[in-house]
Amino acid sequence: AEVVHIVGARPNFVKAAPVVAALEKRGVRQSVVHTGQHYDDRMSAIFFRELGLPRPDVDLGVGSGSHAEQTAALMVGLEKEFISRSPGLVIVYGDVNSTVAAALVAAKLHIPVAHVEAGLRSFDWTMPEEVNRRITDQLSDICFATSPDAVGHLAHEGVATDRVHFVGNPMIDTLLGNLDRFDTAELGRRLDLPDTYVVGTLHRPANVDDPEIVARLTKRLHEVADQVDVVMPVHPRGRRAFDDAGLGGHPRMRLLEPLGYIDFVTLVRGSAAVITDSGGVQEETTILGVPCLTLRPNTERPVTITHGTNRLVVDAELPGLVGAILAGQGTGTATVADVPPLWDGHAGERIATILANGAATR
Ligand code: UD1
Ligand code: UDP
Repeated sequence: AEVVHIVGARPNFVKAAPVVAALEKRGVRQSVVHTGQHYDDRMSAIFFRELGLPRPDVDLGVGSGSHAEQTAALMVGLEKEFISRSPGLVIVYGDVNSTVAAALVAAKLHIPVAHVEAGLRSFDWTMPEEVNRRITDQLSDICFATSPDAVGHLAHEGVATDRVHFVGNPMIDTLLGNLDRFDTAELGRRLDLPDTYVVGTLHRPANVDDPEIVARLTKRLHEVADQVDVVMPVHPRGRRAFDDAGLGGHPRMRLLEPLGYIDFVTLVRGSAAVITDSGGVQEETTILGVPCLTLRPNTERPVTITHGTNRLVVDAELPGLVGAILAGQGTGTATVADVPPLWDGHAGERIATILANGAATR
């Protein structure tokens, strides 16, 4: 029976690419099912073109909606797909609605589930992702963890240790595998970037859904732009609210459409600092050594603080901290001068080896 990968949202594509490639090398029969949770070319198709992911065998075209609407549509579409394909294993990625919907449908059809990036916890139940992560891990037969803390959380929640495999981080496989494509000089010329600039990306509901919060963040980002040019590829979720708040109105603030993976990571690589609330970007900046200010009260990725450049901040701290970074002071948080363990570019290989050795059968 074939292995079916479920992807639907931007970060899924980046994580799935190395796993699909490693299974391909081993001659495993596999399909990629795109749920259609993200559908704009710049949120979806561009990643398939850039990352060598095979074109999805099917796109369920689920699209946007409330949590209940979207999750319900995902489940109905995925159930039909799983019944017709009867996969031997379903692989789900990360913590988006497509992830939990696929795990729930597969579990009820008695199809084994493997979760890539299992065990991350923010302990913040107001985040939809935290709900998705917890449920997905409980439903998964195999949990692939990216960090030792994640292994600890799964043990604490009673997940049997023989279901848990610490394999490293496939998102970092993609980063390291594409390093020679991140040409900062070429991008600088093409986008006419100044030598020194800060990158911003925000899309979490807690930051972009409430117009009052968006107005406050806009004011802070303008204070940052008083000191340094700021480039923001804007996620579609916050586009309207930030436009209404006049984010683009500062002369040193440049708003862009979402970028493809290669241009985005190149932009980050060439930047003085990043202001973000993205999960993946906290990890990528850790490996690139770019100071990362995360506008969140918590993170499910603590190794990016202990081993990396990440720092959790509130908006009032932004202007001062960016000033300190520009003065060469960094974010001042890393306690271990090393990359997180196993973030070495071989996570996809480890996952494929474990699956090929038959961990897929209960
Ligand atoms: C989703 C994930 C989030 C992840 C993020 C990555 C959930 C609950 N959330 O958030 O964990 O960090 O993806 O980017 O799964 N939209 C478009 N075009 C698109 C996709 C979305 O315009 O191609 C707009 C729509 O207005 C939509 C909104 O963005 O309503 C939100 O999309 P949705 O997939 O529901 O959640 P994200 O905020 O993208
Ligand atoms: N990313 C991208 N273009 C952008 C912003 C982000 O290609 O304009 C990439 C980023 O490098 C990372 C992934 O998208 O690989 C992270 O996705 P996102 O921030 O949407 O989701 P999260 O990681 O927060 O779930």
